[in-house]
Amino acid sequence: MKLSSSLFNIPFVNNVLFYDTIDSTNNKAKELAKRGSVDGSLVVGIKQTAGKGRLGRSFDSQDDDGLYFSIMLRPDVATEHLSRVTLVTALAISKSINSFCNVRTSIKWPNDIYLGGKKLVGILTEAGPDYVVIGIGVNINTKRFNNELSDLATSLYLETHKEYDKAKLLDRILQQLNDLYEMFLKSNDLSFMSGEYNNYLGVLNKDIYLIPQQLSLKMSNPSLIDTNGLDTVHCLGINENGDLICRDKLGELHYVNSGEISLRPV
Ligand code: BTN
Repeated sequence: MKLSSSLFNIPFVNNVLFYDTIDSTNNKAKELAKRGSVDGSLVVGIKQTAGKGRLGRSFDSQDDDGLYFSIMLRPDVATEHLSRVTLVTALAISKSINSFCNVRTSIKWPNDIYLGGKKLVGILTEAGPDYVVIGIGVNINTKRFNNELSDLATSLYLETHKEYDKAKLLDRILQQLNDLYEMFLKSNDLSFMSGEYNNYLGVLNKDIYLIPQQLSLKMSNPSLIDTNGLDTVHCLGINENGDLICRDKLGELHYVNSGEISLRPV
């Protein structure tokens, strides 16, 4: 993979580091942040030896079939609102992949991206006192996943039978992220994009289970969680804070914060 030259014209990209092999681009971006690197430092890895997922899971990225990168930003946003940048990223990636590959992905709130019922993109946001690192892993040209993952994960190749230029897709994603991030910084809320985000939301207007994160953490495969005994709610989409608005059986509205809960369609 050779980085596209137009990457260097994207306004919020101020520094680019490119590695053939790295433990985790998120770790490197956090290290840069702590050493005082500039806002907009981008770390791209062709392969990762210790890719990290959410909730302490690992992210399989030892081959060069995917796109693995992290961007470190220093937004002037209250710490409790930094998680909104993750939703901005999910929308930016959805829009770029859909236009670049002519597919229809859906977002599993808050930030996983699915295609054909399986996970295509993972986003891991890690925040410090004066920075946020957004790590993105996209399964692009993977031909097959191991037994454990094959029911859960997919790639653009497996869904469309075409191979894609990773550098061009990276360029497209960062351009789109730059544009949405600039808009987000004007208001620090998501009202400018909630409608568009909701259009990608896989569970919009559907009944869902809300699963306490404690329960989800115990399972390496969250789809095995026993939902017996859990109540269902109806999903109405996100609000300007990125909270998921849910209506319970009594008609009462609940505003669910992403840190506490994960969800599953009924
Ligand atoms: C998840 O699905 O749980 C999040 C996966 C995030 C993976 C990306 S790949 C680039 C960056 N570096 C990491 O170690 N993780 C993120």
